[in-house]
Amino acid sequence: MLLVGKYGVVGLLLGSILPTGYSLDPTTHHGVKYDNSNPHTGDFSHELPFHHIHQTHHDLEADDGYSHIRIIFTNDIHAHEEEFSTLGSDCKDADMEEHTCYGGAGRRQTIINRLRAGYKRSLLFDAGDVFQGHAIYNYYRGNASAVVMNAQRYDAMTIGNHEFDDGLKHLANFFEQLEFPVICTNLNFDKVPRLAKLVKKHMYLEEYNIAVVGVTTTTTQFISMGEELDQVEFLDAAEAVQAEIDLIREKYPNILSIFLLSHNGYLQDQDLASKVSGLSFIFGGHSHTYLSVDHPHDPDSRGPYPTAVLDKDNKPVYIVQAKKFGEYVGFVDLTLNQEGRIEWLSGQPVHMSDKIPQDPDMQTLVNTLLEPLHSLRTNPIGKAIPDMRQELCKTGECLLGNMVTQAILDHANEKKRVDKPEADKVDIVLINSDVMRAGIRRGIVYPIDIVNVFPTGNELVEITMTGQEIRQAIEASVTEVSPVDGKKVTGFLQVAGLKVEYEFKKALYSVLVRDPRVPLEKLPNGQVDHKSLKGWKQLDDDTPYTVLATNFLSEGGDHIFPKSYTYHSYGRLSSVLLEHVFREPVLNPKLDHRLYSPS
Ligand SMILES: *[C@@H]1O[C@H](CO)[C@@H](O)[C@H](O)[C@H]1NC(C)=O
Repeated sequence: MLLVGKYGVVGLLLGSILPTGYSLDPTTHHGVKYDNSNPHTGDFSHELPFHHIHQTHHDLEADDGYSHIRIIFTNDIHAHEEEFSTLGSDCKDADMEEHTCYGGAGRRQTIINRLRAGYKRSLLFDAGDVFQGHAIYNYYRGNASAVVMNAQRYDAMTIGNHEFDDGLKHLANFFEQLEFPVICTNLNFDKVPRLAKLVKKHMYLEEYNIAVVGVTTTTTQFISMGEELDQVEFLDAAEAVQAEIDLIREKYPNILSIFLLSHNGYLQDQDLASKVSGLSFIFGGHSHTYLSVDHPHDPDSRGPYPTAVLDKDNKPVYIVQAKKFGEYVGFVDLTLNQEGRIEWLSGQPVHMSDKIPQDPDMQTLVNTLLEPLHSLRTNPIGKAIPDMRQELCKTGECLLGNMVTQAILDHANEKKRVDKPEADKVDIVLINSDVMRAGIRRGIVYPIDIVNVFPTGNELVEITMTGQEIRQAIEASVTEVSPVDGKKVTGFLQVAGLKVEYEFKKALYSVLVRDPRVPLEKLPNGQVDHKSLKGWKQLDDDTPYTVLATNFLSEGGDHIFPKSYTYHSYGRLSSVLLEHVFREPVLNPKLDHRLYSPS
């Protein structure tokens, strides 16, 4: 029988059961069994009975010929060092009253401390995507994550796709600050010597006689920042892992176990597990999957914790993951026999509810990191001259749309100037107005106002569209009917780099694109005459244009674009806009006739 106990079961029973030789039965690999009949199991989904952890101290450290290892892990923290609400946004007073504030580095630290205190032989892993998702990232980039992770004494992490969001230099800066190794087996950094030095293909832990390999999703090459990624070769995850396992086993023939840190997603982890041999455990991420020891009775769970899959040799590989943002900290306790077979297995994702106290030292560190971010609510970062209302953007040109699309254009061209000066400038920005969820009031601007415009985490992406495709998208937007298939369209595009003449819901008359060779017409007072068409030329149907759009549109969202596109990501829209305001604190957009109706 496979007894994957909740913590209490193992804590209370391990000492006595282990010698009688409980072992894993691979035939039960689909539904991992655990004993719920024991009255000591308790309800861990709400509260962690810490005394159980401490109580296990002696049992699990027993010198009984077995190897006991506790692995604590996190995944997809996405810069959530401070507690957060059910929406993943900052925790407000109402959330506190309703006890719906979760996570944060302070709570993670408490649990990490307690799990370590119960078990000397423990390791702490992260499965990637520590970047992106909270203003703390926009402000510090990876620096805050590095400080927190170093303080928490991680033993290893692998690379998430969002770690690439700000380019390779930035990634290397982050890795350089880490006091623990970064493991990724399926990336080839031969063309980026700095990263080749910083990223290890595997890690061997002599004290434990185990090794750790790592993988990241190969879709990163399509969903993350463009050009620079050409320098990185993404290898098939299963093949790379198998090759590394073979190498490790040759080097350390008596190795007990090999673990994988995977930023590849729950389904992909299962697929990989079935294709390899010699791997015992996968600490996963990327898909933000919540797994539960109570699966399928736990309605929120997507699978059992751990999920067991038979590998190529019919041996079980166990997969765990702990949702996202550090709402859970996962752990597993492994008892390996001298051949490295997992004899005992237990653990659970521990919910970082507000019942878990925040570790005072870590919380002090987080509060210090957050201090400059009080600017989010209290320290002004800029000033809005006009009111920029969001609802106006759904039917025509609007100040908010003009400000946002210009910010995007500036950001992208600045990025290109720095990273790749020889690249073409970005021509055109197209965003769906619904991606902007709040307007900006005239007066002092706080970062929170910017974050509120784009609270959803939509990303800015770069794609290539032909002139014809752009025209089709614009026509769909202004007429609310797709010219490709006649279907209804519900979104409206805000644009930069184009001049569109149309009649709302009726017709598209023309789409002009800026002709950089011809200066714009000026009025006698020196200002640009926005009504003049001088300096603009017809969009050419066959010419490919570089377009910045939202990932939503590029994936076919709202049915506005004539097809879906593969894209390179520039990161979240909120980051882009925040950076714009840090650079240009006075927001004073004007209407310039980019979307105009003759009537
Ligand atoms: C992050 O830390 C590096 C190294 O100390 C520093 O050069 C960089 O300016 C920091 N970045 C931010 C955004 O704080």
